[in-house]
Amino acid sequence: MKLPIIAPSLLAADFGNLQRDVEMVNRSEAGWHHIDVMDGVFVPNISYGMPVIEAIQKHASLPLDVHLMIVDPDRYIETFSRLGAQNLTVHYEACTHLHRSLQHIHQAGMKAGVALNPHTPVQLLSEVLQDIDVVCLMSVNPGFGGQVFIEQTHQKIRQLRTMIEERQCNTLIEIDGGVTLTNAQALLDSGADVLVAGSLVFGSQNPEATISKLAALTAN
Ligand code: DX5
Ligand code: ZN
Repeated sequence: MKLPIIAPSLLAADFGNLQRDVEMVNRSEAGWHHIDVMDGVFVPNISYGMPVIEAIQKHASLPLDVHLMIVDPDRYIETFSRLGAQNLTVHYEACTHLHRSLQHIHQAGMKAGVALNPHTPVQLLSEVLQDIDVVCLMSVNPGFGGQVFIEQTHQKIRQLRTMIEERQCNTLIEIDGGVTLTNAQALLDSGADVLVAGSLVFGSQNPEATISKLAALTAN
């Protein structure tokens, strides 16, 4: 019986009190800080850049799970390594040569993640799955927090879990977008390992307690 990794998305944090919110996550039962980087081109929103991530890193005692929603992410792989990212996730849809991007991330000393938009089939990862540490399944269209979970994601989780088992690789399945206390256990039952939660955590009365509720669920 595995416990899930909970990765609160700081996109939903109070940016006027970022140190306070980062320190809350540090103290909580979360496993990672999920950092959403948006460039206003790959997605219709701009979140934050290197100076803010540098400030987050200064106060973060948990690994940074950096999710790049940007075009041509290869430009910044070394930069995010220097900023202290443990995981660097690029979008399948933003990479011309995904295998080379994954090699580049590993050479820069980070774990390599690939994010798939809701419309992108998991089967497209079949030739590189063994090189991927985390597959981030977008369960909302990327760009904003607080959106409604896309139910089709459960089928993608099950398909991806089968692909991972067939290849006997250790790839983690991360679910990103619209995670709630209502759907979280079902996501773990479908085969997820990591749950990203933004508005659920930072919109709740007691964020630390909300994280504990998620962390207490059991993954299969
Ligand atoms: C959306 C981001 C998600 C989002 C999650 O593009 O990748 O990480 O911040 O926020 P919630 O949990 O509110 O959907
Ligand atoms: Zn994200």
